[in-house]
Formats: sequence, structure tokens, C-alpha cells
Amino acid sequence: MKQISMKEQNQEIVLAKHPSGVPTPDTFKINNIDMPTLKKGEVLLKSIYVSVDPGMRGFMNKGEDDAAGNKFQLNKPITSRTVAQIVAIDTDHPNTDNDNNFKVGDIVHGRFAWQKYQTVNIADIEKVDPTLAPISTAVSMLGVPGLAAYFGLLNIGQPKQGETVVVSGAAGSVGSMAAQIAKIKGCKVIGIAGSAKKVAYLEDDLGLDKGINYKQVDDMQATIKEACPDGVDIFFDNVGGELFDAVFANINRHARISICGQIADYNESNPPQGPRPMHTLIKKSARIEGFVVYDFADEFDDAKKQIADWYNNGDLIYKENLIEGFESIPDAFIGLFSGENIGKQMIKVGEVEE
Ligand SMILES: NC(=O)c1ccc[n+]([C@@H]2O[C@H](COP(=O)([O-])OP(=O)(O)OC[C@H]3O[C@@H](n4cnc5c(N)ncnc54)[C@H](OP(=O)(O)O)[C@@H]3O)[C@@H](O)[C@H]2O)c1
Repeated sequence: MKQISMKEQNQEIVLAKHPSGVPTPDTFKINNIDMPTLKKGEVLLKSIYVSVDPGMRGFMNKGEDDAAGNKFQLNKPITSRTVAQIVAIDTDHPNTDNDNNFKVGDIVHGRFAWQKYQTVNIADIEKVDPTLAPISTAVSMLGVPGLAAYFGLLNIGQPKQGETVVVSGAAGSVGSMAAQIAKIKGCKVIGIAGSAKKVAYLEDDLGLDKGINYKQVDDMQATIKEACPDGVDIFFDNVGGELFDAVFANINRHARISICGQIADYNESNPPQGPRPMHTLIKKSARIEGFVVYDFADEFDDAKKQIADWYNNGDLIYKENLIEGFESIPDAFIGLFSGENIGKQMIKVGEVEE
């Protein structure tokens, strides 16, 4: 593998200002920076695939940090799930915390800075298993989005053969997987997305029973009723807002509503409140449950194997909306809020070194 010269150009993308509403290009700033030097117990990483996720928007707001220390700080690099390659390892302390025997050339993933090259503590990297699926999927299909779809649909939704499932944000990263897993479980699946191209993708590529373009519908409640004549048994919600209200109005007795995301609200400082759901939940003996994917961390390994099996057997397809170039990361992130992606939005920022 080629030695990385300390003169190699390094860059970072920092939070330049707290966004108000949808982030704009000047929310971010690209800086040329020095190559970092390795310290005890560290590896030098070259970023290969960067994932951008809608939930990161909340970490860009002004205000107190959350308990997990997630908030992005002004003039500090943004971080997100990334696939990277180890290009150097602390040779003075080769065995320090290196229980997994990481070596130069290994492909790893973790929550890393938006930097072309960076040093990271060995404790903060995880090996990518390239035998499961292409390496980029470690932060997409086999990462947080895929696992959120898997556990949000199976553990919270508990689908049964023949039930009707509605998925919002259905052409995106999480939604496209939740919808397909529901099909694998023998459900009738209706996907909601924001363009005719996405509806065609849902019906023709993913094999859903129906796609609905919410941007072209005047009365969403009536449209859901028509698409789901037997009512809605499971609602996997990525969006919230008025779409939630329209689907919720059609739930069946003992419905399960899995709240994965609320992207309709992420850029609102005062999100509008919808109808209070309590009476309907009582009348329908229904259950509404939110989750964060890490609630299921103990079961991640088995879930990844199952997802990889479905993928490799052709039961599930997974699309990445791949954009090239480190400087494209901010635009790719901003594009999530106008629906530019079909499948998982990813940015390829470097080549794997042989
Ligand atoms: N609970 C968890 O642990 C967990 C984990 C991962 C992700 N999530 C959440 O899951 C959701 C989906 O994430 P993802 O990574 O799969 O993103 P994604 O669906 O791949 O991308 C975002 C999509 O959301 C839609 N969208 C954007 N603004 C919208 C709006 N105002 N109203 C309706 N739709 C809008 C757009 O599609 P259209 O063209 O269809 O509008 C866009 O393509 C997000 O809310 C995310 O925060 C939760």
C-alpha cells in the first residue's frame, strides 16, 4: 500500500454557523488543514465513504449539548458515519488497545469527522466485514439506516402475513428497507414518497403494492383510505407532520405505529402540533412507539447477517445515491431536505488503496 506523505493535501468541513430552517451552503466551511500526527493508541484513517443522515440536522442547532455529546460546535468538523481505510497505525505501541489486530489497509467504520485524513483512537473504530456486502453498506444497509428499518419494522411493528403496512419516506434509505422487509413478511405495503420517479421506484423496483406521491395529493387521508380498504395495521413513520395525521386517521384496531423519524419537523423551530392522538389510541387499542436504533445494539450482529442474506439472495435490493467528491458533502446533506436522493445518500471521498 502506498505510503501517505505528510505533504498530502488534507481538508475538513466545519460548522460555520447554526442554520435557521433548512441548512444552506454557508452553514458549512471547507478548510485546508495539516496532516495529523499519530499519537499513542491511534490509527491514521483515510475517509472513503461518508454518510449524511437527516437526524444530524438537530445536532446543528444552537444550545446546550445533549447527554451523548452529539451537538456540533462552531468551527469544529462535522461528524457522521463513515467508512475509512487505515493508512498508518501507531507502531510505537502496536498492541495498545488493538484487541482486534487492526492493521494497515483494513477497512473500518465509525463516527468520524468530515476530514479527508484524521487520527482516531483504536477504541473508536470497528472492522468492516467485506464478505457480507460492498464495504459502503457498513454505514447504509448494514449500518444505522438498515438496522433502524429492521428493528423499527420487526420489533415494534411486529408484522403478520396479510397485514397492511404504510411506510412514509419510503424511497429513502430507511423507508425503502422497512417497506421491503414488510413485503418479505408477506404484508401488503403502501409507500409514500415525494416524486413520480420515486413512486415508479417503489412499485417497479421494490415491488410495493402501491406508491403515493404526497406532493400530488390534495386529500391524503382519503387517498390512504382508498389505498388501504382494510385499514392500516402498521405505520412505519419517517416523516411526521400532516402525513402522520392522514395515515393515523386510517389505523385499525391493534395497529402498531413505529416512529422512526420526523423529518417534516427537523428544520422547524416551532413545529405545528397535530391532533392529539390519545382518544384514537384508546378506541383502537393501538400502540405508538418511538425508538433509537441503539436500543437494539445487542442484536445488531444477527440483524446484519439476516439483512446481508436477504440482499445476497436477491430478496431485498439496496440503492445508494452516490455522489463523488469531498467538497460535495454539504450539498448532499442539504439535498436530503428537498428529496434529491433515492435510496441512501452517500458521498465517495477517496479510493481504497491496494
Ligand atoms: N430512530 C432511529 O434510530 C433512526 C435511525 C436512522 C434514521 N432515522 C430517521 O429516519 C428518517 C429517514 O432517514 P433516512 O436516512 O432514510 O433519510 P432518507 O429518507 O434517505 O432521506 C430523506 C428523505 O425524506 C424526505 N423528506 C425530506 N423532507 C421532507 C418533508 N418535509 N416532508 C416529507 N418528506 C420529506 C425526502 O424524500 P421525499 O422525496 O419522499 O420527500 C428525502 O429524500 C429520518 O427522519 C431520520 O432522522 C431514525
